[in-house]
Amino acid sequence: MNAILGIDVGASGIKGALVDLDKGKLHGERFRVPTPQPSTPAAMAQAFAEISEFFNYKGIVGCGFPALVKHGVAQSAANIDKSWVGVNIETVFGEASGCRVYATNDADAAGMAEMRYGIGKGENGLVILITIGTGLGTAIFYKGVMIPNTELGHLKWNNGKSAELYASSGARERLKISRKEWAKRFNEYLQHLELLFSPDLFILGGGESKFFDSYKDLLQTNARTVPAKLLNNAGIIGAAAYAAEQ
Ligand code: BGC
Repeated sequence: MNAILGIDVGASGIKGALVDLDKGKLHGERFRVPTPQPSTPAAMAQAFAEISEFFNYKGIVGCGFPALVKHGVAQSAANIDKSWVGVNIETVFGEASGCRVYATNDADAAGMAEMRYGIGKGENGLVILITIGTGLGTAIFYKGVMIPNTELGHLKWNNGKSAELYASSGARERLKISRKEWAKRFNEYLQHLELLFSPDLFILGGGESKFFDSYKDLLQTNARTVPAKLLNNAGIIGAAAYAAEQ
């Protein structure tokens, strides 16, 4: 079996598991540590190493990271410590864990997993995956090919603020609004994306995807809108798949 450690770094938790890349499934249990606060590179590197140690793992590791990632370097830091900007994620996590680490944007990782193994398998049109968590992450595919680092959670919204401050689950928690109120906001966001991209399919991932049934009737889009099949494991699976390709 071809098992690679995938680690999904989030603003509130860092989750890892061995991934069976033949099946596109977790191989065994998942291990989570809370994201240290402040989430500086040094503190996060320690948490990252805790995960590779838990699995007693020394091979290549795939890492989904919640920022714009170019050639292994974080170029933004919306929901993590600002000192990440300009830092090479692969080097910092690699030195802490003693593993060769390959880093990519977390939503791109989740999108790759859903397109390869999940609900997007065989989809040939324009697909937008949105991870709904502390922030809003996006991945766009056309005919199965991804455009990386699309960052549509940062579309300008409400007086120039980021859309994710209006429609993420982070916003729902911060503003203490009901899931129904949140879903109305999220629907506005989907309709705006629809106006810009005319997708055939929206895939909703991240923590909020578990509750899809409770708000699906409030989403009115021309495109089909479905929850991610791999739910919150897509980021882990996609990160491992990304590492295997490098
Ligand atoms: C970041 C993205 C990330 C998303 C989800 C946003 O704030 O800018 O890079 O994909 O949050 O974690």
